[in-house]
Parts: sequence; C-alpha cells; structure tokens
Amino acid sequence: MNDLSSTPALPAEAQLPDDGQPTVINRLDYTPPAWLVPQIALDFALSLDATRVLSVLSVERNPANPAPTLRLNGDGIAARSVNVDGQPHNDWRMDGADLLIDLPGEAHTVTIETVVNPTANTQLSGLYASGGMLCTQCEAEGFRRITFFPDRPDVLSVYTVKMAGDKQKFPILLSNGNPVASGEGEDGTHWAEWHDPWPKPSYLFALVAGDLVASRDSFTTRSGRKVDLAIYVRAGDEARTDHAMRSLIASMEWDEEVYGREYDLDLFNIVAVSDFNAGAMENKGLNVFNTRYILADPETATDGDYDAVEGVVAHEYFHNWSGNRVTCRDWFQLSLKEGFTVLRDQQFSADRGSAPVKRIEDVRILRAAQFPEDSGPLAHPIRPDSYQEISNFYTATVYNKGAEVIRMMTVLAGPERFRKGTDLYFDRHDGEAATCEDFVKAIEDGAGLDLTQFRRWYQQAGTPRVDVAVAHAGDTVTLTLKQTVPPTPGQPDKQPMVIPLRTALFDRATGKHDGEHLIVLAEAEQSFSFSGHATPPVLSINRGFSAPVAIASPVSNEDLVFLAAHDDDPFARYEAMQQLVVQHLVSAVRGELSPAQRDAGRKAIGEAFAAVLADGALDDLMRGELVILPGESYLHEQLAPVDPGKVRAEREDLKRWLGETLKAEWTTLHDRCSAVPYSLDAAARGARKLKTQALVYLAPAAPTEAARRARAQYDAATNMTDRQGALMVLAGLDVPERAVALADFHQRFAGNMLVIDKWFSLQAGSLHPDALAHVQALAGHPDFTLNNPNRVRALYMAAAANPGVFHDASGAGYRMIADLILQLDPINGNVAARFVPPLGRWKKIEPARAALMRAELERIAAQPGLSRDVREQVSKSLE
Ligand code: ARG
Ligand code: ZN
Repeated sequence: MNDLSSTPALPAEAQLPDDGQPTVINRLDYTPPAWLVPQIALDFALSLDATRVLSVLSVERNPANPAPTLRLNGDGIAARSVNVDGQPHNDWRMDGADLLIDLPGEAHTVTIETVVNPTANTQLSGLYASGGMLCTQCEAEGFRRITFFPDRPDVLSVYTVKMAGDKQKFPILLSNGNPVASGEGEDGTHWAEWHDPWPKPSYLFALVAGDLVASRDSFTTRSGRKVDLAIYVRAGDEARTDHAMRSLIASMEWDEEVYGREYDLDLFNIVAVSDFNAGAMENKGLNVFNTRYILADPETATDGDYDAVEGVVAHEYFHNWSGNRVTCRDWFQLSLKEGFTVLRDQQFSADRGSAPVKRIEDVRILRAAQFPEDSGPLAHPIRPDSYQEISNFYTATVYNKGAEVIRMMTVLAGPERFRKGTDLYFDRHDGEAATCEDFVKAIEDGAGLDLTQFRRWYQQAGTPRVDVAVAHAGDTVTLTLKQTVPPTPGQPDKQPMVIPLRTALFDRATGKHDGEHLIVLAEAEQSFSFSGHATPPVLSINRGFSAPVAIASPVSNEDLVFLAAHDDDPFARYEAMQQLVVQHLVSAVRGELSPAQRDAGRKAIGEAFAAVLADGALDDLMRGELVILPGESYLHEQLAPVDPGKVRAEREDLKRWLGETLKAEWTTLHDRCSAVPYSLDAAARGARKLKTQALVYLAPAAPTEAARRARAQYDAATNMTDRQGALMVLAGLDVPERAVALADFHQRFAGNMLVIDKWFSLQAGSLHPDALAHVQALAGHPDFTLNNPNRVRALYMAAAANPGVFHDASGAGYRMIADLILQLDPINGNVAARFVPPLGRWKKIEPARAALMRAELERIAAQPGLSRDVREQVSKSLE
C-alpha cells in the first residue's frame, strides 16, 4: 500500500466527478448511516513527519438503515493495511477518497493502519504540526485526513486513545476525556492512554502532543464534582493566561446558573496554538484555541482583546452542552450548535459587563459582516439547503444571524418560558445528534409557543426590510408595517416572516412613553393602532434590535435628535444616532443635498454629538458607542450601486467637520480621559475608549494637534488599548510621528506574534492615502508569512476590509487580493476561500470597479486545481 510518510499530504483538490461538475450535497438527501461505530480505539506512534495511526473500529449494523457496505471516509490518506475481525482483509475498494468494505454480519471489528505527515499538512485540518507540537482540528471533516472513518456527526463513538512519542519533543500528551494510563517506552519515548466516556462524533476528537506548560486552577460544580482546569501554552506565555482562566471559571458558573448546565468530566483542558484556521474548537474536554483568544495581559492585549478572550472561552465551554452533549445530525444543522452557542456567549458577556454596550457591539458585527452576506451572491439561510464544501458555511449567517433567530424566540417567550424550552431540548436530546427542527420543537413544547410560521427564519435567506408608515388621527396612532424579504440566490419568492418588534411611542412634551409594546408583524402588511396620543408621538421601533431586519421609517432629523437624547432604551439611542448619520451620508453620497440641506444635516448631527458628550447621566463606555460613526460596509449596504470612494470621502468629511466643530469638547475629553489610571473596571475602560475616539475626530480636523496628542498617548501608554489606539491614529496621518511610532512598536514587541499581527493590521486598515502601497510593501516584510493564518488575516483581511485599499480605483486592491487567493490556495484552501466574499460583492459596486472585481474572479476561476473551498465561493460569486 502507498506509504505517505515521505510524500506531502495531498492538496485539497476540487473533487470533480466524471461529468466535471462539483459534487453538491443536499440537505434533503440525508439518510442515516448504514453502520454505527459504538467504540473506537486509536493508537498513535507520534512523529512530526510520519505519524502512524492504528484505528480499531467496533462496527454494528444500524437497524435504522441496514446495508452491507461500510463507507469509511478518507481525504488524502491511504490504508496500509485493513483487518476484519483480526484477519487480514483484502476485499475492500476505494470510491474516490472513501474506503468501502462489504461486511456480512451484524457486528465486526475493523482495523486500519494509516500514516500521515503532520509537517506537510499546511491546511491545518486533521493532524498537523505547529512550532514543533502536534495538534488536531477535525471539525468539520478533518478526522478523515487522519484515519478512515464514517466522518459524519451522527456517528457517535466512545474513544480510547493511546499515543506514544519522543519524551523530549512531546513531554505533554493529551486527548479527550480522562487520562487512564501512562508509561515509559524504549529509546526515550513515553506513552499515555486517554478514555472519553461520552460518546461523540469524530469532529470532536482531539490530540495534542508537545512541549507545553500548564496554568492550573479548579472548579467545583454545584453537585460537588471537582474539575481540574488547565490551560496549556508555550513556556513564557503562562503569565498571560489569567484572564482566560477567570473567564472559564465564570462560564462554568454562569451555565449552571442561567441554563442549569453542569460540566461532566473531572478535567477540562485548553491548549493554545499559534497556527489555527479558526478562533477555537470545542473538542470534548480538550478545547484547542487560537492563541489570540487565550493570551492576554494589559501590555499586549486591548480591552477589545480581553472581551474577545472572555467571549470565545465561554463560547467553547458552552458547546459542551450545546454542541457536544447534544450534537448535530448533519452539517446542515450547524446553526443548531453555533447559533445557539453564540447567543449563549452573547448573553454571558452581557451579564459580565455592560449589557447595552454588548448589544450594540453584537448588532454592529451583524450589520458589518452578516448583512452584506445576506444581500450578496453567497446568501444562504441559517440552515442551508446545499453545499459543496462545508467549511464555507462557518459564516456570520449561521453563527450571528443564527443567534439572532434564537434571540427572537427569547423575545417571544420571555426568559422563564425560554428556559423551559431549553431544559426540554437538553433533556429530550441529550446524547443525540439533533436537528434545528428538534430545537424549534423543543422550544415550542417547553415554552408554549407556536413557531409554525417562525420556522421560515430557518428556510429563507435575506435580511427582511420593514417599511413603516405612521398616521395620527384624533388620539390614535396607526403604524402600518410592510415587510419585504428580498430575493436571494435560489429563492426568488419569499413568504412573510414573523418579526417581533419592541416598540414605544414617545410624547414630545414629556419626553416619556406609556410603556413598551411588542408588535409581532407576521403578514406582508399589517396595521397596529394605539390610542391615548393627543399629539403625534415619536416612534421608537425595533428597540434592543429585537428582530434582525432593516427598518425603513421616515423619521425627521428632529425626531432622531430627540430619540438620541431621550430614548430610555440604550440601543434605540444608539440607533437614532446611527440613523441620523446614515440618512445624511447616504443623501450626501447620492449628491442629493443642497448646500443648505448639508448644513442642516450636519447641524443636527453636531447637536446630537454635543448632547452625548455633555450628558452626565451616560457612562463613558456607552458614550463611546454613541459617537462611533456607521461603518463603511454598513453604508455600502444602503447604497446600490455604491461608489466606495465617495462614501469614504463623505464619511471622512463629516468626521473632519465634527472634529472642527467640537474641537474644544474633544480636547477636553482627551485630557479628562488621559488622567484616568489603568484598571479593567468599566469606568477606566470607558475612558480608554473615548480617549482614542477623541483623537479619531481630531485627526482630520487638526492633524498636527492630533499627532502631538497621539504621540503623547503612545509614549505614556501603560497598556495596549492606549498604545494601539494612538498608533492607529498616527498610522492614518501623514506626519513625522507616524514612522517613529511604527518603528518603536515593531521593535518593542518583536517576537510577540499576536502583537506583530496588530502592527500589520493597523497599517493595512489605516486611513493613510498610501495604505495600498504600504500593504504591498508589508507583504515582503521578513515577518510576513503565508503559512500562519493569523498573520495572513492581519495583513490581508484588514486590507480587504479597508475600502481605501481594496476599492482603489485602479483595481490594484482587487488584483492584490486575487493574487493572494491564488498563492494561498495550494497552502490553505480554507483560509484562502475567506478572501473571496469581498470580491463577490461586485454587483453592489459602481460599474467601473465592478468590472475590475469580476475580472479578478474570472482570473481565479480559470486557475486549474483550485481547492473545493475556493472553487465553490468563486463560482457562486460569478453567477
Ligand atoms: N466549532 C468551532 C467554533 O466554536 C469552529 C470550527 C471551525 N471549523 C471550520 N472548519 N471553520 O465555532
Ligand atoms: Zn462554536
């Protein structure tokens, strides 16, 4: 049999069957597995370039769908030997990459030997090497790159894992569950055996072997189980694990308290690894994390990084119930675990910090990342109907919109009834591979809701738009709401959704409302009347962003200024500010504003900003949110076709105007906030956030003054939030301080990969007019490499998200991203495919740029041997 130990792992070539068409997997084609695997014993002889894997499967016919052929998925591996019931077996065949065996009986033992080369595995899926350590990433379909197996989430097995390797290279040997035995071998080797009592799908398998140190703590569950906690990192990094450990303990407490979920093993291990495709992975009892979501200390991590660590640690921990104890039947159900777990981590973070600020941040992410997905060629429902490569469906739609959909259930049911629903869900499906339908049914039954029509949120893609008309007669206000769900690829016609809208009607004179109403819009058009309003009230709708929709309501600038100052729902205040600015900028970009209208629009915005800056009742964290201008990608969504150059120019000009008009306020603010000493409490964090905000507005208005202040902030910084904020502002200015600060930062943090990532992304994301040339030069910097996903994203994701770089009118930004995709694809198709969506938005862009974008997509499409990941994204983007 083919010995792979000396050859590199096969690239992820597009698997084109004979007709040349890519294989499409359809949700409705699901059939249960023919064979189950109640137990698996794995034996690893570890080595960096040739790890031998012996896999012993106990297989049983599945009474639900019995068939003689056992299908074992493989990907880039070859079987060295196959045994059935202890006898060498030659009667097996390959079907593409899968190994098929016909088995006569009801139950058999199948033993297969494979050899894999972790060092050659640049895709970082399956078993790979990272800086001398070995680790795995199996979700979604990486296990089949290690050994032949029914690699589908509805096959659950009890795992026993033995591994042996060089004691010097791999002093730490970890897998899922509990350590059961260990010992010394010959020639400086040692071994360990792990057993996980909880049956799990192959995507939750993990193995780590390397030279690592642990930070340890423990947690006692409410039923008295003492759990040993360990976070494994490279020597030298252990001082930066405290925040992650505190976050883990807080998550364990919170899940008991809020969802009644307890941890179920005697140990919980986390390993941080520098080379990682995603954020982190919830492998049972052995979470594997991208270092960026574990390591944090004040000098190297911003407040935002602290929040991200807390959120991701919680997310992966919460998967122990929403994902592991109850897993997914098939990958179309991905949002079952991801949408629900994102909601859970959002709720946790809201409870830990400022709930209103957290809500605003989550909506900002949704609008910046998910709305564009929903309105583009890659739009898909939170439960997709088909895919070519499942890795492409780890999207903001499945994750963030998925969370919004379940959040709407909490709005409809209220917290107590929702909890009854989740209790029933966990109870009913514990140990099972479930579907989104199972989840909805459990919430229906447990919470006592009828979600019949609500289920459309799982079926239909696209962001619904709700048009609002307000009429006032006598003492009655009538809201007429019209919903439109836009057509998306494969879904030309849509049915009305169930849209819960928290609403309040404010009296202009008192500045108060008479209680909030929950309006549930379920028809294409529907009217709702409210009496007791002698004068026309001010409408506050979709408070708390109760539904993930776009509201189009004709609210005057005056009313928006009123809501920005008076609304008692903090999200609605933020929303009023956003709408005020969006309306102005959209009209300005469209060239619809007369000079007088431009002045009036700015004046209203200036007034609202001044009120926010002066409002003593606001905390600084919230104030910081209210003065953030709507992002360019969200503005692009409001304009089709969009001229990104005009959006940038108008947005920057408004910033400059606000900087000039409120110059005294910004400088006072910068002085006040600079005097607040560092701590992690909300007041100090708020001060840090505003401090840099003040510089952001001063920069275009008074660049010399802003540069002086930024330099002072940089030099005085005791923490990364201040330092990065100052450097970000300097990076965008054409001032002498810029190069000095950038050079200092690079030298000061040399060797710290995560901080050097910041150095790359600050420059790639900057407002500097030469940012594109800077990115092109940075690609040749000795610290740059295509082999580390964090580094690639630091430079190129920041560039692709910076319209000043990406949408350069010459097309050079598009070409640069297309070149990157082509270069990266043979190394890591999964990461390469993530760069296609920005190019895929060409239909929304003005014709000259759109043609350039399309041409780059065509150039990629013409490349033979593309990964299935890139192939799928590019072909869909060209349709
Ligand atoms: N399940 C992981 C999470 O917690 C993400 C896995 C990412 N896998 C992938 N193929 N992109 O969200
Ligand atoms: Zn997740």
